[in-house]
Amino acid sequence: MSKVLYISASPRTMSVSNQGARIFLEALGDNIEVEHIDLFKRNLPEVTEEITSAKVHFMMGSTMSMEEQRQWNQVLQLVEELKQADHYLIAVPMWNFSLPYKLKHYIDLVNHPNLTFARDENGPRGIIGGTATVIYSRGGDYSPKNEQPDPLDFQSTYLRAWLTSIGVSPINEFLLQQTMFGPDAIKNAIDAEANRLRELASNI
Ligand SMILES: Cc1cc2nc3c(=O)[nH]c(=O)nc-3n(C[C@H](O)[C@H](O)[C@H](O)COP(=O)(O)O)c2cc1C
Repeated sequence: MSKVLYISASPRTMSVSNQGARIFLEALGDNIEVEHIDLFKRNLPEVTEEITSAKVHFMMGSTMSMEEQRQWNQVLQLVEELKQADHYLIAVPMWNFSLPYKLKHYIDLVNHPNLTFARDENGPRGIIGGTATVIYSRGGDYSPKNEQPDPLDFQSTYLRAWLTSIGVSPINEFLLQQTMFGPDAIKNAIDAEANRLRELASNI
């Protein structure tokens, strides 16, 4: 059985990125387990002084204090949850040209050398692996031009760089754009990608 980890990063009930994700989820085969991390409902621990020093102890192989270890165990649990999946479904709005802070918070908690990526004589390599479907929603239009990302798109460029760095490949991307232009524009954006989302889900 394969496992899909669905990570959503919008607090909105009528979230467009989550509407896209639901099309994907409904088209998944029976034999697929789905776990959902709703980042606006999950109570993520803060990145504290103890976590930042535990990170250094972890990298150096030195001893953590009891409190550092306790907080580091929360990080390890989140990384374990991330690692269990074969496929990542990520629904992410653009906020101020970038990611909602809750998704950045999650990345800052889970992303550490020798847990999600490593470096050896051949350079950096990802440890997590798996494949991904990412649905980006945006109020405006930040389509790539001449195969170059829009200069203000710090959303897909950042998330793609992170996923690549932890070994996720391929990353299938969907743009749901112009969502601030009213219900017809939202419907058109979702309809334009619905078949491709269903097709991808049926092949997971
Ligand atoms: C805090 C905030 C910041 C936003 N910043 C941008 C932005 O920089 N560019 C843009 O096109 N839309 C921006 N939007 C609009 C959202 O990207 C758009 O409404 C999108 O559909 C939200 O995704 P959701 O429907 O899945 O919640 C912003 C919305 C919020 C709430």
